[in-house]
Amino acid sequence: MAFIITVANAKGGVGKSTLSYCLSCYYSKRGAKVAILDEDIQQTISDNIDTWTGQGVEVPITLIDKSNLGSYEELAQNEDFDMIFIDTPPVLTTQLGNIYDISDMILIPIKPSTSDFNSFMRSIDTLKEAIQRNPDLVAAIVINMAVSGSTVQEAFRKHLDGEKGIKMLDTVLHQRVIHTKYLLESYSLFQSKDKEAKREMAALGDEIYYLLTL
Ligand SMILES: Nc1ncnc2c1ncn2[C@@H]1O[C@H](COP(=O)(O)OP(=O)(O)OP(=O)(O)O)[C@@H](O)[C@H]1O
Ligand SMILES: [Mg+2]
Repeated sequence: MAFIITVANAKGGVGKSTLSYCLSCYYSKRGAKVAILDEDIQQTISDNIDTWTGQGVEVPITLIDKSNLGSYEELAQNEDFDMIFIDTPPVLTTQLGNIYDISDMILIPIKPSTSDFNSFMRSIDTLKEAIQRNPDLVAAIVINMAVSGSTVQEAFRKHLDGEKGIKMLDTVLHQRVIHTKYLLESYSLFQSKDKEAKREMAALGDEIYYLLTL
């Protein structure tokens, strides 16, 4: 069965769609069969894929057709893929709880700012309830859009110390202009020339995979 990774944060613009898509491209490049369920109201990823397939490019990621999706439980039983990413909207809904229940990991991108961290902490209950229902669920926070001098992750890590099941990842993603423009050139960050951006996205993919297979 596929690993299901849900990328969530009730705060908008933190990189949920960027990470869902770039990590999908990474695992697919490594030979995994990857699918995405695009639950983002903005359909960011669906647009990315449609744009490139419209130009005749074979994007090696399957967009799950929501009109054929029976239930989230059915998705969890899917045997066709190795990994399924679920990109979520920047709102807390009851639907999110159902998505959490079929997930192996909740990946939470947070910007390196105390106000963003506090806003995450205010929405932590849905996550804690899901971990209570499923103690195997891994909730992993990744700092995205770090700039030089961003050192808040250590402070965040301390805050999270007592929170069972919620982990701060070692990989930190930096603010990089390539994320705002590589789609003009190709469908994948991994076809760009930005070695550092590719290296840290790959490191994130490897760290996540390690946690999933522990
Ligand atoms: N590490 C990064 N460096 C530079 N820009 C980034 C980075 N990560 C994301 N971005 C940019 O930030 C913007 C918001 O990213 P994205 O759409 O992935 O966020 P989101 O959390 O999915 O937003 P929403 O909540 O609105 O769905 C996009 O323009 C994206 O290109
Ligand atoms: Mg989004």
